[in-house]
Amino acid sequence: MTQAPKKLFIKTYGCQMNVYDSERMAETLGASGYVTTETAEDADMVLLNTCHIREKAAEKVYSDLGRLRPLKEAKPGLKIGVAGCVAQAEGEEILNRMPLVDLVVGPQSYHRLPEMERAVGQGGRAVDTDFPEDDKFEALKSRPKAKRGPTAFLTVQEGCDKFCAFCVVPYTRGAEVSRPAERIVAEARELVEAGVREITLLGQNVNAWHGAEGGLAALVGQLAAIDGLERIRYTTSHPNDMDEALIAAHGQEAKLMPYLHLPVQSGSDRILKAMNRKHTADQYLRLIERIRAARPDILLTSDFIVGFPGETDADFEATMDLVRAVGYGSAFSFKYSPRPGTPAAERKVQVEASVMDARLQRLQALLGEQQRTAQETMVGRETTVLFEKPGRLPGQMVGKSEHLFAVHVQAPESLRGEIARVRITASGPNSLAGSLIG
Ligand code: 5AD
Ligand code: SF4
Repeated sequence: MTQAPKKLFIKTYGCQMNVYDSERMAETLGASGYVTTETAEDADMVLLNTCHIREKAAEKVYSDLGRLRPLKEAKPGLKIGVAGCVAQAEGEEILNRMPLVDLVVGPQSYHRLPEMERAVGQGGRAVDTDFPEDDKFEALKSRPKAKRGPTAFLTVQEGCDKFCAFCVVPYTRGAEVSRPAERIVAEARELVEAGVREITLLGQNVNAWHGAEGGLAALVGQLAAIDGLERIRYTTSHPNDMDEALIAAHGQEAKLMPYLHLPVQSGSDRILKAMNRKHTADQYLRLIERIRAARPDILLTSDFIVGFPGETDADFEATMDLVRAVGYGSAFSFKYSPRPGTPAAERKVQVEASVMDARLQRLQALLGEQQRTAQETMVGRETTVLFEKPGRLPGQMVGKSEHLFAVHVQAPESLRGEIARVRITASGPNSLAGSLIG
């Protein structure tokens, strides 16, 4: 008699790297007999893959854990785990604060999940927040051959040595480590064999990748040589790591999509210095000029923090000026959140909440306007769309354009996973509409 598979529910918070890690966790627990399920109610094991970047994200984990309490009481065998950056930052503390948690696993040790799950099955509790010497990706081995959707993430680099004064990442994800090129290329080939057409390379500092001579541009070149891989993207980049070769690749490598997420955080030199960003607003603007010279239609996106300690009205206006000077396709903007252990949290000159709110509103209004403009300039243009799934209306498919806009098109379902030429016909609140060409 074969045993019924055990069910695993993973909730993913935060960034795309967590999305990738959650997939890999599901795959590794698959070898212990788990299949994934869509709800916690249905599960034998619940994993929260957490984010520690801002206080709100980190606190959400505890309220979500609280909500799992009745479930655990009704089903004492239910295993509950906390993974990701909150696990890394708080470790054992989580077990003390939340008796219902059985295991805590950091982002660098989740390849050990099967052993940890076994230990919990024998009545123990398990914590692993090591930064082990062994490469977790090697331990995880190759990815399952099952057919997949047309887009995938692929982690090529982890960790950060930049130590921006506000950021927990260098502490939760550790020092910068690049995966070797040949392993990345092998994983990309496996993904393509499983049906993937577009790969987004991931790293906290992806353009600092140094797994082989020539940096990220060389890696993009190697990946572009894979037949069947049609589109390459990468995120997140630091302005200081945009080297000449990578800029040039945007003009030369047809598979590299015209889209770049390049966080600047602030437009004030004083604040950039206090943030330890190691570049000025002007240096960033000149970098954008060089990138646009290589690829004039590139769409730029960014991250901003308002209310960094000591930010004055004039500093904030400098951020607004920088946004106007660049013209972004979209951007994320956040209120500064003091994080334990970071230098900025120690500063005495914290900005008042109401001031932060007002600044965030103004910045988001400007960024929203720029997003509308960016979408509207697409109307009438031809682009390619990689179709991912049916749309809400009958006969409709949805996919992403080269500039990463969602595009709704009347198209047969047989185009799922295919790239087709599309003319953009209209711009909606968060997506475009288009029609097939030819
Ligand atoms: N407060 C607010 N936003 C933050 N970010 C990182 N740390 C903080 C913080 N302490 C933002 C930055 C970064 C993005 C991923 O999150 O803008 O680029
Ligand atoms: Fe955090 Fe700065 Fe590193 Fe980005 S570059 S992960 S913001 S420390």
